Amino acid sequence: TFKLSNILIILFVFCILLNGCAFQKKDINTHEGQVILRLAENHVKDYPTVRADRLFANLVYERTEENIKIIVYPEGKLGDEESVIEQVKFGVIDMARVSIAPLVTIDESFGVLALPYLYRDKDHMFKVLEGPLGDDFRHSLISNQMYGLAWYDAGARNFYNSIKEIRVPDDMKYLRIRVQEMDLMKDFVRNIGATPVPLVFSEVFGAIQTGIIDGAENNWPSYVSTSHNMVAKYITIGEHIRIPELVIINKITYDRLTEEQQQIIEECAKEAALYQREEMVKEEEKAREIAIENGSIITVLTAEEREQFKSRALPIYESFKSHEDIIEQITNTE
Ligand code: GCU
Repeated sequence: TFKLSNILIILFVFCILLNGCAFQKKDINTHEGQVILRLAENHVKDYPTVRADRLFANLVYERTEENIKIIVYPEGKLGDEESVIEQVKFGVIDMARVSIAPLVTIDESFGVLALPYLYRDKDHMFKVLEGPLGDDFRHSLISNQMYGLAWYDAGARNFYNSIKEIRVPDDMKYLRIRVQEMDLMKDFVRNIGATPVPLVFSEVFGAIQTGIIDGAENNWPSYVSTSHNMVAKYITIGEHIRIPELVIINKITYDRLTEEQQQIIEECAKEAALYQREEMVKEEEKAREIAIENGSIITVLTAEEREQFKSRALPIYESFKSHEDIIEQITNTE
């Protein structure tokens, strides 16, 4: 015979289970049936990546008939890149646009896409990233509970400092140069004879201004958008590295969308990425002009001088020996 207390216990357990399911469903942020996704971004509002993130959000909003709303948080409002990547991994933030340098910390193999002097130029890099290798890397993030949606461009990076003109590696001896949190970049700067100082992006300006560091390295638009040009006027055009950028999404967030929504998200991210690449090229030229107007002293390396820097990257290739096949695949991409 069934007692009332037994029935109550069963009812109680049933309620807890039901509540658990409801909680699971609600876990994806919704508002009146609309899915709200947060996208983290560390650049200033009118930067090419942010403009592209916004285009991405608008396209998704239109094509999902207003069912998915992506909110872009620029200027590092949700944290610096290292922390944002962790937050996307654990689903605290749904999406982010990040440089792949800090991704190397969670997946060492990404370093192979960010080796110094790896790509011949922008076109070469995007041939690689748009090909099967780029797809493999995007999908490989699944082991960190994320997916990569589309590749953005971050141009080529150059060294700049507040002290003196740099032409050859020896000129950089003992300079304290900020690097992103990525071992291969620390090694490269060390091999040049300077001291690498890993710092998050938002702290670089203050560190140069107060003399904690002597300089940094970045692409033209970042050099200017952060006002690094105002405190580090010597810039050496050696284009030592191209570091791709990726729009990432948390796996659980993504898996909870319908197949149609997933497709829309991917196609819109790719469209936005194409727009970003065009805007980036324009911005590189614009930033260079602004830097000149504001008194930057530009040193363009000769081929021979550039080779001197390049030779300092050889030991890094040695340390990537286990990825030799991928490096070869990249170099052979026409
Ligand atoms: C570039 C890149 C950023 C990155 C920054 C850095 O500006 O677009 O995502 O944070 O370099 O040097 O840290």
